Amino acid sequence: MLCRCLLFWILLRRADSFSVTVPSSPVLVVRGATALLPCEFEPNANALVITWQREEDARVVHSFYYERDQLERQSSDYFNRTKLNHKEFAKGNASLSIASFGLKDAGKYLCIVSNSKGSDRGVVHLVYAAFYSEPRLSILLKSTDVTVQYETEGYPRPEVMWLGSGGQNLTDHLEVSSASDGGLFYLKSSYIAQSPAFNVTFTLKNPAVHQKLQRHVNVSYDGNMSSRTSVVVLSVLCFFLLCSTGLLLWLYCRDRRK
Ligand SMILES: *[C@@H]1O[C@H](CO)[C@@H](O)[C@H](O)[C@H]1NC(C)=O
Ligand SMILES: *[C@@H]1O[C@H](CO)[C@@H](O)[C@H](O)[C@H]1NC(C)=O
Ligand SMILES: *[C@@H]1O[C@H](CO)[C@@H](O)[C@H](O)[C@H]1NC(C)=O
Ligand SMILES: *[C@@H]1O[C@H](CO)[C@@H](O)[C@H](O)[C@H]1NC(C)=O
Ligand SMILES: *[C@@H]1O[C@H](CO)[C@@H](O)[C@H](O)[C@H]1NC(C)=O
Repeated sequence: MLCRCLLFWILLRRADSFSVTVPSSPVLVVRGATALLPCEFEPNANALVITWQREEDARVVHSFYYERDQLERQSSDYFNRTKLNHKEFAKGNASLSIASFGLKDAGKYLCIVSNSKGSDRGVVHLVYAAFYSEPRLSILLKSTDVTVQYETEGYPRPEVMWLGSGGQNLTDHLEVSSASDGGLFYLKSSYIAQSPAFNVTFTLKNPAVHQKLQRHVNVSYDGNMSSRTSVVVLSVLCFFLLCSTGLLLWLYCRDRRK
């Protein structure tokens, strides 16, 4: 009841000269970061009421009146994540911070401020993005071809290209799953080479966060059994053999000591 009266009062006072200032362009917030939603008003007046809510569905994000935070009607989506800096009110700063920013927090927020001078509102638009993680490489060797594949997660959909050694655009295979609950796209991109010797470069761009990744894969083949691939396989095998022999010896010695 009290809130409804306040809201009514806020609406009545809208025509006044009192004004609220918010950024006109969208604010980018990276996954997991603390978002700062700027909102400024003309200070030095009594009866300050600040309400932050989602524009889309009027969910209450944070409110302040009677000189204190009022969180009874706060949406559970924002529980324990929001903060208004009371010390800043005297300067006319009603900026809100939201911790652990995620995909579901992207959208429009209303900053409604009223005091004895008047009332006004502004809309702050928050945009979500996530850096793509270090791409994981896998190589599949077949008798007919070689598949090079990278997997990574981020947001939003990136621009992916595979380039040949001369910088030419190669045809690739790209799969991007829909965003998970964690707010990340899962991306899998592969290039199939018809020859066992090739140089390719995987490039990924996430323009939202100015991220550019470039990874080279150089595969060579000298045509006989002592090829580099076999040498690598053999070295890995030898390494494991040595390790397991060492482990067995160690276990044996330890048991003998007991
Ligand atoms: C609120 O968040 C703080 C740290 O951000 C945490 O220590 C505290 O346990 C949380 N409280 C509840 C009730 O979740
Ligand atoms: C408003 O307050 C926030 C802290 O709540 C601070 O980070 C920000 O710099 C302040 N803005 C201005 C314009 O002073
Ligand atoms: C891999 O190939 C690229 C050309 O595609 C070349 O610029 C780069 O130096 C090569 N890297 C190695 C380690 O040979
Ligand atoms: C590269 O080739 C793909 C199709 O193979 C095409 O969709 C893409 O637009 C090309 N990119 C550039 C920068 O030419
Ligand atoms: C790959 O790059 C290396 C180093 O730049 C070069 O020596 C080799 O010839 C290239 N191989 C192919 C198949 O282009």
